[in-house]
Amino acid sequence: MPEFVNPFSGMTPDRKLTFNELIRALRLNLAAEEEAIHLYMAHADATDNELAAAVLRDIADEEREHVGEFQRLLNILLDDEEQLLADGAAEVDELAEELKSGASEAKKSDDEDSDR
Ligand SMILES: [Fe+2]
Repeated sequence: MPEFVNPFSGMTPDRKLTFNELIRALRLNLAAEEEAIHLYMAHADATDNELAAAVLRDIADEEREHVGEFQRLLNILLDDEEQLLADGAAEVDELAEELKSGASEAKKSDDEDSDR
């Protein structure tokens, strides 16, 4: 979010970031993109002005691309980033599959009940 009251915001520090500071800065940048998406979508949803809503949604999509850029950069810089993300995705896939098979089992059971 904007920090206009801080006169030192955006000033170049007298040293460069360490690698770990860079990683944290990139995660903060990534979160800022997500926050921007949230803000633009909320504003698009909150207006009746078609043009403004369309522009806000278009910019939100551009921010989603920026999320991809920051995530890709983290994936390149960190050896374990992609694997950990894949592990998380696999956990969700597993739950989704369980729910899907549970839902199909429940539907099968319902169908069997209705056949009786
Ligand atoms: Fe952005």
